[in-house]
Amino acid sequence: MIELQGLTQRFPGDAGDVHALRDVSLSIAQGEVFGIIGRSGAGKSTLVRAINLLNRPTSGRVVVDGRDLTALPSAALREARRDIGMIFQHFNLLSSRTVYQNVALPLELAGKSRQEISDTVLPLLDLVGLSLLKDRYPAQISGGQKQRVGIARALASKPKVLLSDEATSALDPETTRSILELLRKINRELGLTIVMITHQMEVIKQVCDRVAVLDAGCVVEQGRVIDVFLRPQHEVTRAMIGDVISQELPPSVLRRVESRLGNGRDHVYRLAFTGEGVDQPVLAQAIRRYGLDFNILHGQIDEIQGQAFGSLAIMATGDEADVKAAMAYLQEQGVVVEEFDHVV
Ligand SMILES: Nc1ncnc2c1ncn2[C@@H]1O[C@H](COP(=O)(O)OP(=O)(O)O)[C@@H](O)[C@H]1O
Ligand SMILES: [Mg+2]
Repeated sequence: MIELQGLTQRFPGDAGDVHALRDVSLSIAQGEVFGIIGRSGAGKSTLVRAINLLNRPTSGRVVVDGRDLTALPSAALREARRDIGMIFQHFNLLSSRTVYQNVALPLELAGKSRQEISDTVLPLLDLVGLSLLKDRYPAQISGGQKQRVGIARALASKPKVLLSDEATSALDPETTRSILELLRKINRELGLTIVMITHQMEVIKQVCDRVAVLDAGCVVEQGRVIDVFLRPQHEVTRAMIGDVISQELPPSVLRRVESRLGNGRDHVYRLAFTGEGVDQPVLAQAIRRYGLDFNILHGQIDEIQGQAFGSLAIMATGDEADVKAAMAYLQEQGVVVEEFDHVV
């Protein structure tokens, strides 16, 4: 649905050019929710604005729904942009217009009749749960409700793609969850392709099918969200997953185990697994098979896209060869095993 090919963006600056995107290539399929995550300044907004050519990249191609936007003359580009809706962190509503009038705005600009406008706007307000608030002004509604207006307005021109740039970053966790649920529902019911830009791994975890990690203008890693959580490759990815699922041992646990490490019998591991690969009690099997003592130090079972995802820190005690064999066995069963070597 969206093909980004070799996007590069340089901005001229006093201290030389800022290289905001470096040869970014991504392929986003029809109907998926695709996340792009990165730290502040990574180039996320520049990238999302390249998809509808609000920023024209210095080089590279943007193909949306089979059309090369970078090659279109401006009138055709304006037309093509109707297929791409966008929502923003700060909602960008007009304060002098009611909820209804904000949603109606793109239709008015497109020259639609009053009747056509109301035929489109009323069902959209119903979809986003704002029918009762249609005559309120932005100052009279909550942040979550404002974002619902933003979503309805973005959907008014019946786009095929919705771009979301930090749309939940100004909202509290509970409101964030309800907005993400709404976006998921729209994705399912309307078959809309959604590109979610965020700096929060929690958002990726809750709503995205696939994710690309952007760092200093480069895509450093991408894949199915569950796979990236299971086997993060890049240090930035690990750090961002750590915000959601701890990758380190808490200091209190560390203090308890520290003195026992390095004796050749006690080893601390982090195990990561999903319900997809690990449906048997593999941990219990490994313990029995190799006659070890296992002590669970710390753990979290979570859910990613309806799939169980577990992360456990364990201490395994036994003969070195048995411990290693047990870990190899777990790996064969699809568990990702990593020794906490920095603890030693
Ligand atoms: N219009 C611009 N002119 C100059 N530099 C810019 C412009 N837009 C973004 N940048 C720079 O490009 C880099 C990436 O910015 P941005 O895409 O906004 O990052 P993010 O959204 O990931 O925080 C930053 O160093 C930023 O200062
Ligand atoms: Mg940004």
